[in-house]
Amino acid sequence: MNKEVYSKTISLFQERFGQSPAVVAYAPGRVEVLGNHTDYNEGLVLSAAIDHGTFFAIAPAEGRECRLVAGDILHEVRFDVGAPAPSAEESWSNYCKGVLAGLLPRGRFDKGFNALFLGDIPQGAGLSSSAALEVTTGLAIARLYGIEVSKIDMAKIGQKAEHEFAGVKCGLLDQISSLYGADGMLVKTDFRSLEVENVPLDSTCALLVCKSTARHALVDGAYNERRAACESATAFFKANLSHPVTALRDVSWAEWESLKDKMDPLVASRSAHPIGEDERVIGGSELLAKGDVAGFGKLMFASHESSRTLFENSCSELDSLVAIGKATPGVLGARLSGGGFGGSVVMLVKRDALAEAAKAISAAYLAEYGEACETFAITPSAGAAVIKE
Ligand code: GLA
Repeated sequence: MNKEVYSKTISLFQERFGQSPAVVAYAPGRVEVLGNHTDYNEGLVLSAAIDHGTFFAIAPAEGRECRLVAGDILHEVRFDVGAPAPSAEESWSNYCKGVLAGLLPRGRFDKGFNALFLGDIPQGAGLSSSAALEVTTGLAIARLYGIEVSKIDMAKIGQKAEHEFAGVKCGLLDQISSLYGADGMLVKTDFRSLEVENVPLDSTCALLVCKSTARHALVDGAYNERRAACESATAFFKANLSHPVTALRDVSWAEWESLKDKMDPLVASRSAHPIGEDERVIGGSELLAKGDVAGFGKLMFASHESSRTLFENSCSELDSLVAIGKATPGVLGARLSGGGFGGSVVMLVKRDALAEAAKAISAAYLAEYGEACETFAITPSAGAAVIKE
C-alpha cells in the first residue's frame, strides 16, 4: 500500500470538500499468472493481488446529491444517490456508479456522499485498475451506509457494474483477486464452485510485470467476441458429448481433439484455449506445490503460445516481450496477463536474477520498438479492505 498516495488522497479530499473522510477503503490491482479466459468458462485461475491499488475516501453529504472526484484528473461528477446512470463523457465514473447501483437494493440511501479516489495502478497495463476501483468503491460505500456484503457478493457487484455500466462482459477474476489477495501468496480460484484458496509463490522467485507500449482496452468488443465464441463452443459440446456440459470447464482436451474437426474452425481454436488453460492450471498447481518452478514456467510459455495462436488475444508487442523473456537468463516463464490485446506480460523470474533480467528486457524492447517498456517487480499482496473509519 503506497503511503504517499494515501496521504494525497486525504489531502485532496479535504481541499475539495472541506471535511475529512469518514471512511477510506483500499483495493489492489491484480496480475493473472496462469489460466487465461477461463473464469467465465467456469474454469481455474492462479492470480495475485499486487502492491499497487486505489484508495477511495468518502463522507456523508447533507442532501441527496453525490459528488464523486477522480483524484488524478480532478474531474467531478454529481448525481442523485438513488439514480446513478452511466456517463459517456466521464466514463471513469461508471465503475463507481455501477457499484452504487448494485448496492442500492441492499440498504437505505436517504443521503448522498462526497467521495474522491486516487491510486497508483499503471493505467492501460491490464492490471485491473477498473476492478480495483469497483471493489474499493463498494467497500467504502457499504461501510458508510452500514451494509454487510460478503466478499463474493462484492465481487459480483463489481462484475455487474462492469457489464452494465462499462459494457465489458468480464468474468469474476479481477474482483476476486483484488478481494482475496494475501501477502506472498497466489490466489487460486475455482470459478465453478467459487472456492478461493491462497497458495504460496516459491520464495526463490519473483513476478516481473513488463508493460508493453500497446495499450490495453477491453471496451473495444474483442473481449466480448471471444466470450461469445466460447459460448458457441459450449453449445456445440453440449450437443455432441454424452455427459452434461454447462461450460467449457466440462470439456477435456481429449474430447476437444476428438471433436475439433466437426466444429467451425474459429470456434474450435477459440475454445481450445480455455480448455488447455484449465489443464495447465491443474498441472501448474501441482508443480508449484512440489517446488518445480522451472516446470511451472514452461506452462506459462505454453499459455502464451495458446493465446497467440489459438485465442488470438495477443499482439506483436506482447509476443516480442515473451520471446525476449525466453532469451533472458533467470526468466523461467512469461505470458500475457489478463484480457490481452495489449497491456502487460508477466514473467516468473529467479529472485537473484531479477534486477539484471529487468534491465536486459527493457533494453531489448527499446531496441526493437524504439520506446521503453516499463518493468516492475510485483509483490503478491493482501486483498482489499476498509483501512480507516
Ligand atoms: C480480463 C477480465 C477477466 C478475465 C481475464 C482473462 O481481465 O476482466 O474476467 O476474463 O480478462 O482471463
